[in-house]
Amino acid sequence: TQYEHILTSRPNPSVALITLNRPKALNALSTPLFLELNKALFEADADQAIGAIVLTGSEKAFAAGADIKEMKDKEFSDVYKNNFLANWGELSRLRKPVIAAVSGYALGGGCELALMCDIILASPTAKFGQPEINLGVIPGGGGSQRLVRAIGKSRAMELVLTGRMVSAQEADQWGMISRVTDNVVEEAVKMATEISSKGQIAVQAGKEVVNAAYELTLAEGLRFERRTFHGLFATKDQKEGMTAFVDKRKANFTHL
Ligand code: HXC
Repeated sequence: TQYEHILTSRPNPSVALITLNRPKALNALSTPLFLELNKALFEADADQAIGAIVLTGSEKAFAAGADIKEMKDKEFSDVYKNNFLANWGELSRLRKPVIAAVSGYALGGGCELALMCDIILASPTAKFGQPEINLGVIPGGGGSQRLVRAIGKSRAMELVLTGRMVSAQEADQWGMISRVTDNVVEEAVKMATEISSKGQIAVQAGKEVVNAAYELTLAEGLRFERRTFHGLFATKDQKEGMTAFVDKRKANFTHL
């Protein structure tokens, strides 16, 4: 598919790389961009050959937020009736892991987009923040909820109420990201390639149970994890993985 606001590529057959590409607007997340992004994400999710997805922006900006020029003149009646930005949540319905490779600004909706991904890798230049307060609004893409879970109430409150940007190093210390690394896209593709080499059923199950921790009580979460673990004994990948270990060879997963 030919897109206008994103680039898609296959650094190798098992990894989809999606690059936000509105350089003149620092990858501001307009509605047309989001529609393309969702389409590309679901296409990759449905492709049997792909095991994981990497989402990135440019050196200067992962994304500088929702498109302020698009939002400026909207009225309550528009945004409410049309459920403005509701389609942002679709990313969290993907079954395959999505790794955000963040360089430069990840602000407002850009920070929220990164937080919707399963893993965040950041280059030393990354800057995260929720500057909506400076525009007379608040986060609307999940920032207030996901930040509290990621970094705790006090830090989340500080970001949401002051609009201050935090560096990659600070975000790392706060446990908001996995790690800071040079060549962040290359590292993310490497990680995605490694994930793709595992059994895809187990990978999807792993993502599902980790995400369940956000929604369930501990007792329910533990039960869900154990039942899901039990279910994996119905897969060929479990037989192959454990047999390969005993035979002292590398497992050859068939995703069955
Ligand atoms: C539309 C944007 C934009 C945005 C930058 N641009 N961010 N356009 N929406 N969010 C445009 C600028 O208008 C400018 O266009 C061009 O990109 C370059 O930006 P500059 O400001 O000139 O760059 P610089 O001086 O380097 O400053 C970078 C910056 C600044 C600090 C990131 O652009 C900035 O503060 N941007 C807004 C960040 C923000 O408030 N994000 C939250 C948005 S609200 P022209 O045409 O002038 O060259 C939000 C709500 C989410 O995200 C809730 C729903 C999910």
